[in-house]
Amino acid sequence: MTGVKIVGVGHYAPERIVDNHDLERWFDTSDEWITSRTGMKRRHWTSESEATSDLALVAAQHALASAKLDANDVDAYIVCTVLPDYLFPATASIVAARLGASDKAAFDMEIGCSGFIYGITVAAALIRTGVFRRVMLIGAETLSKLVDREDRGTAILFGDGAGAVVLEASAEDSFLGSELGSDGSRPDLLNIPAGGSRRPITHAALDAKEDRIHMEGREVFKFAVTKMIAATDRALEKANLKKSDVDLLIPHQANKRIIDAAMKHLEIPPDRVVVNIQEYGNTSAATIPIALSEAVRDGRVKPGAVIVFVGFGAGLSWGAVIWKWAA
Ligand SMILES: CC(C)(COP(=O)(O)OP(=O)(O)OC[C@H]1O[C@@H](n2cnc3c(N)ncnc32)[C@H](O)[C@@H]1OP(=O)(O)O)[C@@H](O)C(=O)NCCC(=O)NCCS
Repeated sequence: MTGVKIVGVGHYAPERIVDNHDLERWFDTSDEWITSRTGMKRRHWTSESEATSDLALVAAQHALASAKLDANDVDAYIVCTVLPDYLFPATASIVAARLGASDKAAFDMEIGCSGFIYGITVAAALIRTGVFRRVMLIGAETLSKLVDREDRGTAILFGDGAGAVVLEASAEDSFLGSELGSDGSRPDLLNIPAGGSRRPITHAALDAKEDRIHMEGREVFKFAVTKMIAATDRALEKANLKKSDVDLLIPHQANKRIIDAAMKHLEIPPDRVVVNIQEYGNTSAATIPIALSEAVRDGRVKPGAVIVFVGFGAGLSWGAVIWKWAA
């Protein structure tokens, strides 16, 4: 089996910034409450006319530039998202075409906020088994279009953005292990009730705002901490590594308190954890690739570093991947 490595990273967030003080004007909340309960200060929201592929495109262009590759050098495009441009076709096809890549494989993956964790596992497997030589993996989200902007329980949490990585076949292997899981017995804990085959959109569903994100916050919080710890432990075990071997941990950015609680239990010190939640909020499948791209830009990712990517989200779903940054 061949190995896999990351050869390019990039990210993009829309220009419009919604900070906590903007939210104070919209409903009964405060900068103090949001900051202390979530760690969030700002989030980037798209304009009416911006779609998920618009964000994915720019992130992918940055990733190609950092890899010094042309769009046609990539064999397959994958977009992880909960809000594609259309129910079909795949947003990945649209992104590949707009990059000028012709005849390439392209598909979307929809696993909520765990999208990038599942995506990098699939992309790595496709390369390690020789199916493709290069894969562009993008996490791209426009969650501002899915929140009820009058609901203080969810509108404060979510933002828009995209992060992209280019993966390539390599003699040395960066993929050291992965743990993925899901439990679909309670889809109602975090979902959009209407708009699928279970409950198509009707006037009644729109009136009840069932086309918007519904979340049981406290339940999701408890699940998130437990699963981040368990998935990281299990993935490290599969990679034959200890917690003390971890150089950098890049978690899904859903709530700073969730990250802090999990890291405390995992005994990973704050200087080894990448947190940018204050700037973007929760951008679902985009949080981890955006954080990775920023960490590379800031020189925090050293050659040979052992990195943990760990996330959780709708499904419920969770996962962790252990990745050795190529020398
Ligand atoms: C949503 C979340 C921030 C709420 O924080 P919390 O500490 O659990 O707060 P609670 O839901 O217990 O609410 C506490 C109080 O704050 C209020 N409150 C909720 N949102 C508020 C807001 N934006 N501003 C001010 N008050 C708010 C509640 O109404 C409640 O008031 P009450 O005690 O009078 O009933 C937190 O539960 C969370 O982050 N959950 C996980 C969400 C998540 O990660 N989702 C994505 C997964 S990928």
